[in-house]
Order: sequence, then structure tokens, then C-alpha cells
Amino acid sequence: MSNNDIGIDLGTSNIVITMGSKGVVLSEPSVIAYNTRTERVLAVGKEAYQMIGRNPDYICVARPVSDGVISDDDLARSMIREFIMKIAGHQLLKPRVIICVPAFVTDIESRAVVDAAKSAGSRQVYLIQEPVAAMIGAEVDIAKAKGHMIVDIGGGTTDIAIVSMNGVVTSHTIKIAGNAINRSIIKYMQNHYKLLIGEQTAEKVKIGLCNLYDPSDDITFIVKGRSLLKGLPSQVLLSETELFKAVEDDTFAIMEAIRKVLEDSPPELVGDIYDNGLLLTGGGALLGGLSHLISRTLDIKCSVAKDAINCVAKGTGLAFGKMTTLLDGFESAPVYKYR
Ligand SMILES: Nc1ncnc2c1ncn2[C@@H]1O[C@H](COP(=O)(O)OP(=O)(O)OP(=O)(O)O)[C@@H](O)[C@H]1O
Ligand SMILES: [Mg+2]
Repeated sequence: MSNNDIGIDLGTSNIVITMGSKGVVLSEPSVIAYNTRTERVLAVGKEAYQMIGRNPDYICVARPVSDGVISDDDLARSMIREFIMKIAGHQLLKPRVIICVPAFVTDIESRAVVDAAKSAGSRQVYLIQEPVAAMIGAEVDIAKAKGHMIVDIGGGTTDIAIVSMNGVVTSHTIKIAGNAINRSIIKYMQNHYKLLIGEQTAEKVKIGLCNLYDPSDDITFIVKGRSLLKGLPSQVLLSETELFKAVEDDTFAIMEAIRKVLEDSPPELVGDIYDNGLLLTGGGALLGGLSHLISRTLDIKCSVAKDAINCVAKGTGLAFGKMTTLLDGFESAPVYKYR
């Protein structure tokens, strides 16, 4: 691995970048702000995120990745270019880049990712499937003929996959993840308290109060917003039990999807998974009590990966060191040279 090799997890909510042996060097919201009059990029990442909902008409604040794939080519290209510049500056030797893509990605979607990375100044671009990267990032040995299950709960999607021999055996994706949970919290506050709250508030409530395993009436959180009845600022004391009710349907949809993947998998692999357990990655893995709820409901061992939010990116960086094993020997090699 060379020290300017770059690994990128291009997520719906966050972009995480690794560089050479330094590991993770950047983790910021995948947001870009640009001036539509001058067509110039104003900010990316954290700075652009702060502008959401506070921008004048001629400034567009956008998320060029939705549901794990690029939805706006030009903006994605500009955003990746800005981030690479941020960490690497102008370099004589252009970096090699590995970017991860969801397991279900189409050829057109992969091409968009490769084109974006190429035009952002990379010498060579490789793609890796997210579940494989997540497993490598969690330091699980996936080279053997043994099944491992990974559930990556991001902002846009929850990706469930069974990985064996460095490749994805089965996978399933649902569009219920962190963002959908935030929307459910916003809806709950509107319906039950006639309180209008924004996305950033919903995010704070979710991170500060969520307990999916043994929610209590006594643990509460102050939620501030605007009263729909009076039109004025107002606040409500929300309990863990109420928050559980607000996000119950989403949580159970995720567990139902896991159950379905287990049901559809070959019996040998399911046996392995009962031994190895299930690994949670992505920001959604940090939802309070989720791993315990999954263990209790599905009767399967479940753990949260170390540094769950950066796991996929870390694996992307580590994949440079495993390129020869990942490239050779498998027909559908999970890391491949883009032709
Ligand atoms: N402590 C936490 N508790 C609950 N959820 C969290 C926590 N921290 C982050 N999240 C959620 O994790 C999500 C972002 O996770 P992540 O960075 O893995 O997503 P992503 O990779 O950008 O998205 P995707 O994989 O869907 O493209 C957000 O919805 C955020 O609200
Ligand atoms: Mg992700």
C-alpha cells in the first residue's frame, strides 16, 4: 500500500476517507453547497451541512448521494474532488482510489462512481462491495468457506449480507435506515404533540434518547420545535417509551429483513451464522439497545462492530493490502479493476 492510496466510503449521510497507513483522515456529511449564479462550490462536508435550511435561493445545498448511490453526477464529482483536495492537496503522483458500492449496485451506478473518482483526480479506481469492506474493516477473516452476516445500517439504506470466501453470497437492501427513523420521529411529534421539529432536532433526539431494549417512562429528553397550533416556539418532554413507539415500525422492518435473509440462505451458511453471530455496522448500529433487541427477537448472537461508523471506510483502506487475494481466484471478484 502506498501512502497516498485513498479509500472512500461514499455514503448517503457521510463520506469517510482513509489515506495510506494513516487510516481514517476525514469523516464529514456528504453535503455540497454551491452558488447557482456563479456555479462555484462554496463548501462541502460539515460547513455545507450547517447551511441546510439556512440558505438563500441562489445557494443550493444538496446531497449528491441518495440510497447509497450517486443521484447527481456533477455534484458528486465536485464533492469528491473537494474532499480529495482537502486531504491530499495538489500532488504530482495522483492517488489510487478504492470506493465502495452497495452490493446491489447496477453497472450504470458503478460507472457513475468510477467516473466521479476519475475526474476528481485519481490515477486508478477500484470498486469494492460494501459488505465485504465492512467485514474487512471489522477485521473478520472472510477468506474461508464460512458464512458471516453483516447488517450495515446507514442513513439511506440498511444492507444485509452474508459473506463467505471474500464474496457476497446473498444480500438484501431496504430503504429503512437512519433517515427514515428521523422522519418517523418528526411524524410522531407532529401527530402526538402538534410540534413541528426539524431533521437536526430529530437526529439529536434519536442519539440522545433511543433505548430499544428496555425503554423507561422516567428517562426523558426536551424536544424543542414550533407549535403547529400557536405557530410559536414550544417544547415537549419526550420519554424513552414514547420514542420507542415512534421508531418501532422501522426497527421491526429491519429485523424482518434480517429474518428474511436468514430464511432464504443455504442451511450450511445459516449454521455458520448461528455460531459466528451477526455484526452490526454503520451509524444506525449505534441506536441504543438495538443489538440486544435483535438478539432477543431473532435468538441470534449480535454485536456492534468497533468504530461502527468508520468500519466500511477502514475496510476500503485495508483492501489495498489484500488486493492480490481479492482480485485473483474468484469469478465475481469483490474488488476489480475497472475496465
Ligand atoms: N449514536 C447514534 N445513534 C443512532 N444513530 C446514529 C448515531 N450516530 C449516527 N447515527 C445515524 O447513522 C446514520 C449515518 O450512518 P452512516 O454514516 O453509516 O451512513 P451512510 O454510510 O452515510 O449511509 P448509507 O450507507 O445508507 O449510504 C445517520 O442516519 C445517523 O442519524
Ligand atoms: Mg454506508
